Amino acid sequence: RAARHKARIYSLNREAARFFHRCLKSPAGASGYEYLKDRGLSDATITTYGLGFAPDSWDSLREFLRSKGYTQEEMLDAAVVSRSSKGHVYDKFRNRVIFPIIDLKGSVVGFGGRVLDDSKPKYLNTDDTPVFKKSRNLFSLNFAKGKTNGRLILAEGYMDVISIYAAGFENVVATLGTALTEEQARLMSKYAEEVVIAYDSDGPGQAATHRAINLLGAAGLSVKVLRMEGAKDPDEYIKTFGAKRFEILLNHASDMIAYELAQVKSRVDMKTDMGKIEYVKRCAYILSEIDDPLSREVYAATVAREAGIPAETVMTQLSAVLSKKR
Ligand code: GTP
Ligand code: MN
Ligand code: MN
Ligand code: MN
Ligand code: MN
Repeated sequence: RAARHKARIYSLNREAARFFHRCLKSPAGASGYEYLKDRGLSDATITTYGLGFAPDSWDSLREFLRSKGYTQEEMLDAAVVSRSSKGHVYDKFRNRVIFPIIDLKGSVVGFGGRVLDDSKPKYLNTDDTPVFKKSRNLFSLNFAKGKTNGRLILAEGYMDVISIYAAGFENVVATLGTALTEEQARLMSKYAEEVVIAYDSDGPGQAATHRAINLLGAAGLSVKVLRMEGAKDPDEYIKTFGAKRFEILLNHASDMIAYELAQVKSRVDMKTDMGKIEYVKRCAYILSEIDDPLSREVYAATVAREAGIPAETVMTQLSAVLSKKR
């Protein structure tokens, strides 16, 4: 029975995706289509990702699915409709462009929906359902999985993934509006040995990068970090500077230690002694997390050079941190 119920939810989702996609191409979806065009998406990209539009209506999807024989309970279980406190059932996605979420078997399991203006919330995502666990899925992994060549790019948002893909890098995925999980890190390690984190360059993006470095490292992945200047995210970067420049960034991504050391440097005032001391202390802590003694020494030399002090001084500080840990 459970299997039959899941099969119904899969087929319901497929029908909903078709409905949204047809809407995007119909006069009723003109505003959504125009929005995606304004953001630089080609028809080919729209088709590849099966993008759609949810009309500005409380019941158009519900009525469509009803006509296809789906029950209200099935719609609620697929989470394409919501129930108000008064018990009224209505379409969850309204007046939004739709990003279908497709699992590794090619089934539609959920949707992301973006408003066309600055209203809030900017994105809505399908809640977890019997066929969809946000924490175990990655947007676009269905496309990326066969194309990784050992390397995946991890971005923050739907539009980043789509722009990166359209720029010619198909090995790109994103989490679905939540922080990266251990399960997602493990999932990535099945398809790649290396992950390049390409999160937003703002504060939240940097915090998320720090977290992702640890999670991906713990999953045995080798981690690099893309460093972007002059744009707040990869989508904007590609739009401003082009695919070629983005490829250069990819090829110059920092390894994670270099990234973390540079982050520390950017947060202290290296022109003062106090700043340099702070820098060395915090770097020594980062170095203490490296298992390989040779790597520790190589990075210690970098820190010493940056601070303008002898490498031995950094090593002494590092030994102090290490002995405190034991
Ligand atoms: P654009 O403005 O369309 O370029 O979106 P963005 O991806 O640059 O937005 P942002 O960097 O703010 O968010 C990154 C990702 O977080 C999005 O792609 C969504 O998956 C998710 N997200 C953003 N805003 C919300 C929100 O209001 N609710 C939820 N659930 N997720 C969000
Ligand atoms: Mn946001
Ligand atoms: Mn962001
Ligand atoms: Mn963006
Ligand atoms: Mn962004």
